Amino acid sequence: MTTPAGIEIVGLTKAYGDHAVLEGVDLVVSAGTIHALLGSNGAGKTTVVKILSTLLRPDGGSAAVAGHDVVTAAARVRESISLTGQFAAVDEILTGRENLVLIAELRRIADPGGVADALLTRFDLTGVAGQRVATYSGGLRRRLDIAMSLIGEPPVLFLDEPTTGLDPQSRLEVWKTVRELAGHGTTVLLTTQYLDEAEQLADRIAVLHDGRIIADGTLAELKQLLPPTTVEYVEKQPSLEDIFLAIVGHDGAATKETR
Ligand SMILES: Nc1ncnc2c1ncn2[C@@H]1O[C@H](COP(=O)(O)OP(=O)(O)O)[C@@H](O)[C@H]1O
Ligand SMILES: [Mg+2]
Repeated sequence: MTTPAGIEIVGLTKAYGDHAVLEGVDLVVSAGTIHALLGSNGAGKTTVVKILSTLLRPDGGSAAVAGHDVVTAAARVRESISLTGQFAAVDEILTGRENLVLIAELRRIADPGGVADALLTRFDLTGVAGQRVATYSGGLRRRLDIAMSLIGEPPVLFLDEPTTGLDPQSRLEVWKTVRELAGHGTTVLLTTQYLDEAEQLADRIAVLHDGRIIADGTLAELKQLLPPTTVEYVEKQPSLEDIFLAIVGHDGAATKETR
């Protein structure tokens, strides 16, 4: 059904004690696409990501990542994925470049320095590469975290609420980073509580609610589920500039509707 690098979830269930969180989740993420899993706080997004990244066993149903079953082929799944959680896993004491080199060495990648420099360039981090991460803004830190997760080129990337807790400027920076991934063929499952984030980044958006996927489609498809657009008339106060121009009788300007 799906190509090997994608994700396929069928009838997934998970309860914590008697608290059923996932009650039959079905989802297909095509290879090389960004799919947003949208849901409110506590909907079960992290639970889905933990099951897909083999950190948690499902109660029922099945899930395959890059063609490997998350229960019976967990080691193969782990080789194919990278997980970036809500809390950045970077080392504060090291510089940005040292963090990247360290991970490349741990993963036994050839030419760790070269790999680090390529990622620094790709994610626009060269200017801060020599600074300790402790001095980075939240957005910079998250970008470095995402860059680190790409070492070894895993075909599937999980981003669990990549911008929660970030200021607006940092959110924009992280969005730019995620868009960068799309051009490189990485399959991304991104969880978010923010509709605008899903809208900005995702090829498809799935909505997790009450333990199930209640909607899944492109933004255009989801918009068709909404009631038709209504037109509202809003009385617009003139700006000080409009008033000024009206008083001074500037040529035609006072009759302009908006500026
Ligand atoms: N280890 C756990 N033990 C008990 N309940 C949990 C555990 N992890 C999560 N939950 C509960 O499961 C629900 C879904 O959690 P989670 O998957 O983290 O949601 P989300 O990531 O969408 O905010 C929440 O009600 C949460 O309190
Ligand atoms: Mg979560």
